Amino acid sequence: MATVTLSKPEVKQTECFIDGKWLPAASGKTFQTINPATEEVIAEVAEGDAEDIDLAVKSARSAFESGPWKNMDARDRGRLLYKLADRIEQDLDELAALESLDNGKPISDAKAADLPLVVDCLRYYAGYADKIHGQTVPIRGNYFCYTRKEPVGVVGQIIPWNFPMLMTAWKWGPALAAGCTIVMKPAEQTPLTCLRMAQLAKEVGFPDGVINVVPGYGPTAGGSIVKHRGIDKVAFTGEHLTAQIIMKEAADSLKRLTFELGGKSPNIVFADSDIDLAAEKAHFGLYFNQGQCCCAGSRVFVEESIREEFVEKVAKLNEHRKLGDPLDPQTDQGPQVDQNQFDKIMKYIDIGQQEGANMVTGGKRHGDKGYFVEPTLFDQVTDDMKIATDEIFGPVMSVLSFDNYQDLVERANNTFYGLAAAVWTRDIAKAHNLANELRAGTVWVNCYDVFDAAAPFGGFKMSGMGRELGEEGLKPYVETKTVTVSLG
Ligand code: NAI
Ligand code: MG
Repeated sequence: MATVTLSKPEVKQTECFIDGKWLPAASGKTFQTINPATEEVIAEVAEGDAEDIDLAVKSARSAFESGPWKNMDARDRGRLLYKLADRIEQDLDELAALESLDNGKPISDAKAADLPLVVDCLRYYAGYADKIHGQTVPIRGNYFCYTRKEPVGVVGQIIPWNFPMLMTAWKWGPALAAGCTIVMKPAEQTPLTCLRMAQLAKEVGFPDGVINVVPGYGPTAGGSIVKHRGIDKVAFTGEHLTAQIIMKEAADSLKRLTFELGGKSPNIVFADSDIDLAAEKAHFGLYFNQGQCCCAGSRVFVEESIREEFVEKVAKLNEHRKLGDPLDPQTDQGPQVDQNQFDKIMKYIDIGQQEGANMVTGGKRHGDKGYFVEPTLFDQVTDDMKIATDEIFGPVMSVLSFDNYQDLVERANNTFYGLAAAVWTRDIAKAHNLANELRAGTVWVNCYDVFDAAAPFGGFKMSGMGRELGEEGLKPYVETKTVTVSLG
């Protein structure tokens, strides 16, 4: 089949979106966002800092406390979310191309995975807007007691670069359904689609100040969100080391915090599984999105009796994986997001070889332009190797062998992470027992990376605090108020 490369999408928004207006950074500074496939500059983007965040907070605060948002019926808030979802769906091809350009992900993935999940998430929470309500409470005495569910207030949202639009939707959906207002900082690597979403939100009628987006760097723009007294809650997705800084800096104002952090997720393949399917989905569960997934199945535990066969199958899939221009619809794998991530991954590939793991495929840079890394597969990895303990966040799979169920549970749980896990077996009792024993926020059985807006997602241990998606995902955006009325 002939390959077709789509024309480059137009970049329309590069400034701060504050109080419904597009503004340069107060300092006048800009930073560059890079096309990771070519290392060329796509655009200069406003570099927001404390002053811009302060302006955004004032706008979000006044939208929260006065104006049309405060007085809008919940059902009408929901209608706005539905309109935003419709608008994104209408522009799906263009948004997918912009995401692909800025992040490097294959356009086919952006169209088939990211964008549909964005639309679905916004619709799911649109339906919740008018279904958030309290209870009546039978307390002692002659009183009428009830609870109200009120928005937590102005929320600061800080997101990473691996799924820029999807992370925006996961953050905006519940916050807007609950009636909060938003100050968001997209990742410095990938600000473009979040800024476009802000423009679409304006066009469908979100009142000024409800959504503010300030692009910029972590310690400056991000840090200003974390420290600002006018922000009630921070929702963060990214690295656990950043979350530790945020937790310390938020202590001063006792902000509500939710974190969705990294992982080193065990993907466990038993000899009694459908080995072809397990290999195909293990390949998908690790290499999808260039391995840049918080829930990547990066520790693949394979029962020793089938290990060789399994490794061969994954190796074959790796060899057929097509690396190249992310805007080409035939491409399976694009570049890593930036030079830092590329360097980190190449360092771990070196470490894996030094540690004595058996490198079966990959190991090298692909091409000489762009941050492409070959799909890399290490076999005979042992639990204490760094490639088995550290989050690599790239296309590097580690296969570990097991032959004893009890050891397996201990080994799978022997990590400070606890985001996801998967089990491949035809034995239903074994699958459920493991689902109970694995210390992870999500367990997939005979599948991987199955996401749905209705299903809560988040981490045990150092993989996070709180949950996103589903009804659980609304809770951090809501305060409970108890009202007691004397009937005497
Ligand atoms: P990061 O955690 O530094 O960045 C995520 C977001 O936090 C970005 O918007 C960034 O600007 C912001 N940020 C950074 N420092 C901040 C601070 N002091 N205060 C407030 N906001 C701050 O992640 P980074 O450096 O992009 O990637 C490093 C590693 O983190 C990756 O190699 C990967 O292992 C992991 N990671 C995990 C993600 C996940 O989905 N769980 C997403 C991105 C990275
Ligand atoms: Mg960082």
